[in-house]
Amino acid sequence: MYVNKIGDLLKCPATLLMLLLHGCGGGIESGEQGFQRCNACHSMKPGLNFTGPSLAGILNRKAGTITGFNYSRAVKTSGIVWTVENLDAWITNPQLFIPGTKMEFEGIPDQTVRDELIVILKSKTALPLVNNEPP
Ligand code: HEC
Repeated sequence: MYVNKIGDLLKCPATLLMLLLHGCGGGIESGEQGFQRCNACHSMKPGLNFTGPSLAGILNRKAGTITGFNYSRAVKTSGIVWTVENLDAWITNPQLFIPGTKMEFEGIPDQTVRDELIVILKSKTALPLVNNEPP
Protein backbone atom coordinates (compact mmCIF):
# COMPACT_ATOMS: atom_id res chain seq x y z
CA MET A 1 0.00 0.00 0.00
CA TYR A 2 2.92 2.34 0.53
CA VAL A 3 4.20 1.63 -2.95
CA ASN A 4 1.57 3.92 -4.40
CA LYS A 5 2.89 6.75 -2.32
CA ILE A 6 6.39 6.34 -3.64
CA GLY A 7 5.00 6.09 -7.15
CA ASP A 8 3.24 9.40 -6.60
CA LEU A 9 6.38 10.99 -5.26
CA LEU A 10 8.36 9.89 -8.26
CA LYS A 11 5.72 11.09 -10.66
CA CYS A 12 5.84 14.56 -9.17
CA PRO A 13 8.13 16.76 -11.30
CA ALA A 14 9.05 18.93 -8.31
CA THR A 15 10.36 15.88 -6.47
CA LEU A 16 12.36 14.78 -9.47
CA LEU A 17 13.80 18.24 -9.83
CA MET A 18 14.75 18.23 -6.19
CA LEU A 19 16.46 14.87 -6.58
CA LEU A 20 18.42 16.18 -9.56
CA LEU A 21 19.50 19.24 -7.62
CA HIS A 22 20.97 17.00 -4.94
CA GLY A 23 24.00 16.45 -7.08
CA CYS A 24 24.67 20.19 -7.33
CA GLY A 25 24.19 21.26 -3.73
CA GLY A 26 26.88 21.13 -1.12
CA GLY A 27 27.09 20.75 2.64
CA ILE A 28 24.20 20.77 5.02
CA GLU A 29 21.74 22.23 2.57
CA SER A 30 21.57 19.12 0.47
CA GLY A 31 21.18 17.16 3.69
CA GLU A 32 18.11 19.25 4.48
CA GLN A 33 16.84 18.45 1.02
CA GLY A 34 17.74 14.85 1.66
CA PHE A 35 15.34 14.78 4.60
CA GLN A 36 12.57 15.73 2.23
CA ARG A 37 12.88 12.19 0.99
CA CYS A 38 11.91 11.08 4.48
CA ASN A 39 9.46 13.68 5.71
CA ALA A 40 6.58 12.36 3.62
CA CYS A 41 6.54 9.54 6.14
CA HIS A 42 8.52 10.81 9.15
CA SER A 43 8.49 13.80 11.44
CA MET A 44 11.27 14.79 13.83
CA LYS A 45 8.75 15.84 16.47
CA PRO A 46 8.39 13.54 19.46
CA GLY A 47 5.18 11.55 19.39
CA LEU A 48 4.21 12.60 15.87
CA ASN A 49 3.93 9.43 13.80
CA PHE A 50 2.93 9.45 10.14
CA THR A 51 3.27 6.43 7.85
CA GLY A 52 6.58 5.98 9.64
CA PRO A 53 7.38 6.55 13.32
CA SER A 54 8.67 9.85 14.69
CA LEU A 55 12.44 10.13 14.27
CA ALA A 56 12.88 12.26 17.40
CA GLY A 57 15.87 10.97 19.33
CA ILE A 58 16.53 8.30 16.71
CA LEU A 59 20.30 8.38 17.23
CA ASN A 60 21.32 5.52 19.48
CA ARG A 61 17.73 4.51 20.13
CA LYS A 62 16.75 0.87 19.89
CA ALA A 63 14.79 0.02 16.74
CA GLY A 64 11.06 -0.48 16.97
CA THR A 65 10.53 1.18 20.34
CA ILE A 66 8.16 4.12 19.72
CA THR A 67 5.04 3.28 21.68
CA GLY A 68 1.88 3.49 19.66
CA PHE A 69 3.55 2.82 16.32
CA ASN A 70 2.68 -0.43 14.62
CA TYR A 71 6.09 -1.69 13.46
CA SER A 72 6.71 -4.70 11.28
CA ARG A 73 7.77 -7.79 13.17
CA ALA A 74 11.10 -7.57 11.33
CA VAL A 75 11.99 -4.17 12.79
CA LYS A 76 10.48 -4.85 16.19
CA THR A 77 12.54 -7.99 16.71
CA SER A 78 15.70 -6.78 14.94
CA GLY A 79 17.53 -5.92 18.16
CA ILE A 80 19.26 -3.13 16.26
CA VAL A 81 20.36 0.16 17.82
CA TRP A 82 20.31 3.13 15.46
CA THR A 83 23.96 4.05 15.48
CA VAL A 84 25.34 6.18 12.66
CA GLU A 85 26.64 3.02 10.97
CA ASN A 86 23.29 1.26 11.17
CA LEU A 87 21.37 4.30 9.98
CA ASP A 88 23.73 4.56 7.05
CA ALA A 89 23.20 0.91 6.09
CA TRP A 90 19.44 1.30 6.57
CA ILE A 91 19.00 4.28 4.28
CA THR A 92 21.30 2.70 1.71
CA ASN A 93 18.79 -0.11 1.35
CA PRO A 94 16.19 -0.70 4.07
CA GLN A 95 14.96 -4.01 2.64
CA LEU A 96 18.46 -5.39 2.54
CA PHE A 97 19.36 -4.22 6.03
CA ILE A 98 16.16 -5.50 7.69
CA PRO A 99 14.42 -7.92 5.32
CA GLY A 100 10.68 -7.79 5.86
CA THR A 101 10.51 -4.15 6.91
CA LYS A 102 7.47 -2.23 5.79
CA MET A 103 9.46 0.93 5.13
CA GLU A 104 8.94 1.20 1.38
CA PHE A 105 11.93 3.32 0.50
CA GLU A 106 14.21 2.63 -2.42
CA GLY A 107 17.37 3.70 -0.63
CA ILE A 108 20.01 6.36 -1.27
CA PRO A 109 23.00 4.93 -3.15
CA ASP A 110 25.07 8.12 -2.96
CA GLN A 111 27.39 8.11 0.07
CA THR A 112 27.73 11.91 0.08
CA VAL A 113 23.98 12.43 0.18
CA ARG A 114 23.67 9.86 2.97
CA ASP A 115 26.45 11.48 4.98
CA GLU A 116 24.80 14.87 4.74
CA LEU A 117 21.43 13.47 5.68
CA ILE A 118 22.89 11.74 8.72
CA VAL A 119 24.49 15.01 9.84
CA ILE A 120 21.00 16.51 9.79
CA LEU A 121 19.46 13.57 11.60
CA LYS A 122 22.19 13.79 14.22
CA SER A 123 21.82 17.51 14.77
CA LYS A 124 18.03 17.42 14.97
CA THR A 125 17.29 14.13 16.63
CA ALA A 126 20.25 13.34 18.86
CA LEU A 127 19.99 11.79 22.29
CA PRO A 128 23.04 11.65 24.58
CA LEU A 129 25.62 9.63 22.68
CA VAL A 130 27.26 6.34 23.45
CA ASN A 131 30.47 5.02 21.98
CA ASN A 132 29.38 4.77 18.40
CA GLU A 133 29.98 8.38 17.47
CA PRO A 134 32.48 8.65 14.63
CA PRO A 135 35.46 10.99 15.15
C1 HEC B 1 7.19 5.68 2.21
C2 HEC B 1 7.32 6.06 3.61
C3 HEC B 1 8.71 6.17 4.19
C4 HEC B 1 9.78 6.90 3.72
C5 HEC B 1 9.86 7.74 2.44
C6 HEC B 1 10.82 6.75 4.71
N1 HEC B 1 10.41 5.94 5.72
FE1 HEC B 1 11.47 5.40 7.35
N2 HEC B 1 9.97 4.20 7.97
C7 HEC B 1 8.76 4.04 7.31
C8 HEC B 1 7.99 2.99 7.96
C9 HEC B 1 6.60 2.50 7.57
C10 HEC B 1 8.79 2.53 9.03
C11 HEC B 1 8.49 1.38 9.98
C12 HEC B 1 9.19 0.17 9.37
C13 HEC B 1 8.80 -1.17 9.95
O1 HEC B 1 8.14 -1.24 10.99
O2 HEC B 1 9.19 -2.17 9.32
C14 HEC B 1 10.02 3.32 9.00
C15 HEC B 1 11.06 3.17 9.92
C16 HEC B 1 12.20 3.95 9.95
C17 HEC B 1 13.21 3.90 10.96
C18 HEC B 1 13.20 3.02 12.20
C19 HEC B 1 12.51 3.79 13.31
C20 HEC B 1 12.43 3.11 14.64
O3 HEC B 1 11.74 3.64 15.51
O4 HEC B 1 13.08 2.06 14.84
C21 HEC B 1 14.17 4.83 10.64
C22 HEC B 1 15.43 5.14 11.39
C23 HEC B 1 13.74 5.46 9.41
N3 HEC B 1 12.54 4.90 9.02
C24 HEC B 1 14.44 6.44 8.77
C25 HEC B 1 14.07 6.98 7.54
C26 HEC B 1 14.86 7.95 6.82
C27 HEC B 1 16.15 8.57 7.33
C28 HEC B 1 14.22 8.19 5.65
C29 HEC B 1 14.66 9.10 4.51
C30 HEC B 1 15.93 8.80 3.94
C31 HEC B 1 13.00 7.38 5.64
N4 HEC B 1 12.96 6.66 6.81
C32 HEC B 1 12.07 7.36 4.62
C33 HEC B 1 8.32 4.74 6.22
C34 HEC B 1 9.12 5.56 5.44
